[in-house]
Amino acid sequence: MIDTHMARRYHIKPLRHNFQVYNRSSFHSENISMLVILTIATITVCTITYFTANARELMETRARPVGTSRLAKPPKTPPPAEPMSNHKSNSHFTRNLWNFVANEAEKLFLYQHFLETPWKPNTTNQQMWRSEWNELASNLTADKDFILTQQNVKENDSLTYSLYRKVKGKPMKQFKVTKKLMDNLPNASPLDGSHFGRCSVVGNSGILLDSDCGKQIDQSDYVFRCNTAPLEPFRCDAGMKSNLTTMNPSIIERRFNCLKKEENISSFAKAISQYNDDIWLPCFGIQSHTQTCLKSLDVYEGLNPRLLVANPAHFRLVWDFWRERKFGTEPLSTGFYLVHVALSVCEEIHLYGFWPFSAQLDPSPGQVHDIPYHYFDNLKVTKNHNMNKEFQILLQMHKHGLLQMHAGKCS
Ligand SMILES: *[C@@H]1O[C@H](CO)[C@@H](O)[C@H](O)[C@H]1NC(C)=O
Ligand SMILES: *[C@@H]1O[C@H](CO)[C@@H](O)[C@H](O)[C@H]1NC(C)=O
Ligand SMILES: *[C@@H]1O[C@H](CO)[C@@H](O)[C@H](O)[C@H]1NC(C)=O
Ligand SMILES: *[C@@H]1O[C@H](CO)[C@@H](O)[C@H](O)[C@H]1NC(C)=O
Ligand SMILES: *[C@@H]1O[C@H](CO)[C@@H](O)[C@H](O)[C@H]1NC(C)=O
Repeated sequence: MIDTHMARRYHIKPLRHNFQVYNRSSFHSENISMLVILTIATITVCTITYFTANARELMETRARPVGTSRLAKPPKTPPPAEPMSNHKSNSHFTRNLWNFVANEAEKLFLYQHFLETPWKPNTTNQQMWRSEWNELASNLTADKDFILTQQNVKENDSLTYSLYRKVKGKPMKQFKVTKKLMDNLPNASPLDGSHFGRCSVVGNSGILLDSDCGKQIDQSDYVFRCNTAPLEPFRCDAGMKSNLTTMNPSIIERRFNCLKKEENISSFAKAISQYNDDIWLPCFGIQSHTQTCLKSLDVYEGLNPRLLVANPAHFRLVWDFWRERKFGTEPLSTGFYLVHVALSVCEEIHLYGFWPFSAQLDPSPGQVHDIPYHYFDNLKVTKNHNMNKEFQILLQMHKHGLLQMHAGKCS
């Protein structure tokens, strides 16, 4: 979740202002060797930090600011005459180090360098994760139960909404399954019994812009996408293949006038016809979206792509799983949920467009550039998701070889 404190940091005050460089003039210097030394030293600091701590501890540890005091600490014994001649370049270097003014800046610095270290898969860890999850989810599997089907729900069953938490003394908000809903549900889940080789989950972050990752994404056997981002305009960066795409019911309200008129229905149909296979609709997240969401099933029945209804029980189970593991209390994002589903049905999982920061460090030291919240629209951070917490978990999955996170250029 992006709290007001963070929102302020992300939007009113861009992250770049949290960085300071000790000496701005030398920072712009053309001195290549200085830049090389700086880069090597920076990476060394990170590498040491990373390889001496385990990932979990690391993510919780505040990055240690690399200040002049630490590097300029006088040696216990007088240095031999020879290295003394290097002293000058050393002190030059320390003037160009990052000074982390904000905790967010430290995180950005650390995470980004973390992702630049070579990645390798670890099937042992992947299997361990699966058995841990399956212990809890033996009755509700991702492949069969991530959506509502004629098999996992019956008429008059009560569905508990997935995004409300229990309030003491109050009943949980529920929906009684109607005959009409039953008629709109598929016989079985499209993922039932599926096992894919390579999957990609495409998030919404603006980090995808100019990434050239489209080709790589399209080489996947199965592509999960978030929030019905338009495909064609972002073909090069985000690819065209789509097998399961999530759609937030609020979009049906905002962009398609709650499907009130014929014209609204046809523009809805046109907008989703760009996707292949399936659209995943969380109709039972919060109550206010349900009617419009169910209406879309009625008006769109039997067409392609298929509209599937998220299973609130499965979503809640996944949320509970992560809550128990210190995830925090804010709702999971659909992107994170998709990663969880992908981990159950895919051998190799690649993540693109997951980046909780509004900035990225450039390869040349001292430079940062802005990263839009979404790659396809001008939306500002509005969601109450715990993006930073989620990202910490995803990074650790990357580190442990369960999935590979891509946060740079693909070419
Ligand atoms: C996978 O991770 C485990 C630790 O959980 C480690 O013991 C094992 O060596 C790793 N395997 C590979 C191939 O890196
Ligand atoms: C799974 O279903 C069985 C029988 O229906 C039930 O006894 C068991 O408690 C369920 N397990 C979980 C984790 O819900
Ligand atoms: C569901 O409940 C309604 C009203 O209580 C009843 O008429 C109907 O037969 C029930 N349907 C099923 C399949 O039990
Ligand atoms: C995924 O969608 C692409 C088209 O976008 C299709 O060619 C491919 O067969 C689909 N993959 C699976 C496993 O259904
Ligand atoms: C819905 O349709 C009406 C015409 O009947 C149109 O004026 C309106 O702009 C449409 N709304 C949206 C959000 O597309």
